[in-house]
Amino acid sequence: MSFPKGFLWGGATAANQFEGGWLEDGKGPSVPDHIRGGTVSTPRQWDKVIDENVYYPSHEAVDFYHRYAEDIALYGEMGFKCFRLSINWARIYPTGMEETPNEKGLEFYHKVFAECAKYGIEPLVTISHYELPWGLSEKYNGWTGREVIGHYLRYAKTLFTAYKDEVKYWLTFNEINIGAMPMGRIMSLGMQGTDGSPMFQATETPEEASDRFTALHHQFVASAQAVVMGHEINPDFRIGCMIAGTEMYPYSCNPADVKEAQDAMNMRNYFCGDVHVRGHYPYYAKRYWADRGITVRMEEGDLDILAKGTVDFYSFSYYMSSTCSTDPNVVEKAGGNMITGMKNPYLKASDWGWQIDPLGLRIYLNDIYGRYEIPLMVVENGLGANDERAEDGKFHDSYRIDYLRDHIKAMHEAVLDGVDLMGYTMWGCTDLVSASTGEMKKRYGFVYVDKDNDGNGDFHRERKDSFFWYKKVCETNGEDLD
Ligand code: BG6
Repeated sequence: MSFPKGFLWGGATAANQFEGGWLEDGKGPSVPDHIRGGTVSTPRQWDKVIDENVYYPSHEAVDFYHRYAEDIALYGEMGFKCFRLSINWARIYPTGMEETPNEKGLEFYHKVFAECAKYGIEPLVTISHYELPWGLSEKYNGWTGREVIGHYLRYAKTLFTAYKDEVKYWLTFNEINIGAMPMGRIMSLGMQGTDGSPMFQATETPEEASDRFTALHHQFVASAQAVVMGHEINPDFRIGCMIAGTEMYPYSCNPADVKEAQDAMNMRNYFCGDVHVRGHYPYYAKRYWADRGITVRMEEGDLDILAKGTVDFYSFSYYMSSTCSTDPNVVEKAGGNMITGMKNPYLKASDWGWQIDPLGLRIYLNDIYGRYEIPLMVVENGLGANDERAEDGKFHDSYRIDYLRDHIKAMHEAVLDGVDLMGYTMWGCTDLVSASTGEMKKRYGFVYVDKDNDGNGDFHRERKDSFFWYKKVCETNGEDLD
């Protein structure tokens, strides 16, 4: 038995990490346009005012804005069935608050979808991927302001109407569960930081946590209303949620570690999926909030909205697993984008310390399918590595092929287990800017982009070995993985 017929093989990107053209054709600044580049040891910095003398990676990113036809042609050559991209909200509504959309912004994505159609590639659109128009962030402290729900819905309605016949698959928010952690304040919830401070905030007061969970509540309400609206505009739309997926293992069989891992899975992973898929807040959230003095500001009718706007499918990113320990002697931490824990002695890690665990993907798929029994899709997975040009001038990224092969095999096992899996879009199919560190050096792509951490390079594209390997995967529906 192979992968299901019509399985959506492809790649994934996000506007602020990929497009560039940050002020072109009427686009306004977004939150990521205020965030500097960093490294694994130097955190990215949030600036209230953009400093003209500083390099901000999103401003040019890798120039998809001008190179979309060439990029999509390469996806067509690989045999992609699906291309996940996000729409940059500030390209459509420059401050987020205009009454009418920026036509030039809408036109850009019409052109992108027309290119996809040429190669029979189905777009999968993330409505909001870690970027809020700066105007909304500043005026309302990001999603803390309830007004942002209305602005999001106007934006979503514009997209659903404009692209009604071009796009079938939608995701309301990228990795919404990052907002369930303090580090998600700026990146995921568009909240304002302290000028010059790191993008990821580690701790919060109860008042700050209350604002954050209120902001997240607003995203849930907006997502649920968007799902209902989207189905009214086109009943064929398939609208999903997107969760940063990480399997959290107990470090040992000590029941205290098992409980620690259960708590971590509940609030860091299941919490948002439970609201999106089941249509109500999970029971364990109440105790979590009470223990921490957190008050979530909800309005009458909100819970009915959540119940009505449940998603059609569950999508997620999967890069690694992590472990939880209560033993004070277990001190070695694992790396990770946002959800981190202790180092697992059974696993190897990437150069950025992310623990590589293909079997964890099979476990996660079974876990989530068993919980919700709705179709699943892996919309991000991949290996961030420092690709070096070989003596023959090419990029021989066999380590990436090994990583992807093992994860695809694990997915296949999950399909044999009975999991209903719709597709797989590998993250960063063309090299792009890293979200957590802002680096270019951390590359994921099948396609190399000539650009470095400081913005030098001419942006030209080159095929890596993994390009030719993935072409076979797409063409054989995952049968040929050699
Ligand atoms: C996910 C995000 O967390 O991981 C992407 O949705 C991000 O935006 C990806 O790029 C990989 O993380 P990083 O930090 O290596 O870019």
